[in-house]
Amino acid sequence: MLGLFTLVVLTSSYLVNVSSANSNTPSWAKTTPYGHERKTVLQFYFHDIVTGDPPSNALIAQPKDANQSASMPFGSLFMMDDALTVSPDPSSMLVGRAQGFFGSATQEESSLIMGMSFGFVDGVYNGSTVVILGRNSIMNPIRELPVVGGTGVFRMARGYAIAQTYSFNLTSLNAIVGYNVTIFHP
Ligand SMILES: *[C@@H]1O[C@H](CO)[C@@H](O)[C@H](O)[C@H]1NC(C)=O
Ligand SMILES: *[C@@H]1O[C@H](CO)[C@@H](O)[C@H](O)[C@H]1NC(C)=O
Ligand SMILES: *[C@@H]1O[C@H](CO)[C@@H](O)[C@H](O)[C@H]1NC(C)=O
Ligand SMILES: *[C@@H]1O[C@H](CO)[C@@H](O)[C@H](O)[C@H]1NC(C)=O
Repeated sequence: MLGLFTLVVLTSSYLVNVSSANSNTPSWAKTTPYGHERKTVLQFYFHDIVTGDPPSNALIAQPKDANQSASMPFGSLFMMDDALTVSPDPSSMLVGRAQGFFGSATQEESSLIMGMSFGFVDGVYNGSTVVILGRNSIMNPIRELPVVGGTGVFRMARGYAIAQTYSFNLTSLNAIVGYNVTIFHP
């Protein structure tokens, strides 16, 4: 009898937690129970502005013998602080910023090593981060990058990010990239 009562109490408090988490979830996120954890899928757009005023990335290091006729010579390392918004429109609501580095890490094709923190500023995710580290083969239409950790709501996170270029301007080199990030976290 006591066992059944405990089960009912646990179940109802669990339901309350889940529904309150859902009601606070911003429009660009979807969170569902996943065993003892939660599965959260975030969807947003990343704006890399190379020729903006100011630009959102900066070349910070390059080998002495860099091939200057290549658009991103092997060994070039950049630091970025890119806006993340709810839609591809750069003036749409800011959900966070992607801060980190990317470098040209292959001699043959255009592929990057990318390490960044997605720091969110919206709703329940304000102040929480998701950390990404991995290879980004920017010439492939769809890329997968590993989620290696997080903080705040996303403490102990693991998961993956799917990146798909939404637009790339060959003149300005500015890019808008759609990100769908699937995260498993407590
Ligand atoms: C330098 O880069 C250009 C453009 O990608 C390429 O055609 C050329 O072969 C490269 N030169 C060397 C020495 O790698
Ligand atoms: C996010 O948190 C910061 C620091 O606590 C606060 O100043 C800001 O108003 C918050 N933003 C939103 C949208 O809640
Ligand atoms: C691409 O960038 C160039 C240079 O900034 C700009 O003049 C042009 O309008 C852009 N094209 C598109 C389709 O946005
Ligand atoms: C991202 O998620 C949206 C909504 O579920 C979907 O329409 C889109 O195809 C996804 N993009 C990728 C690259 O998976």
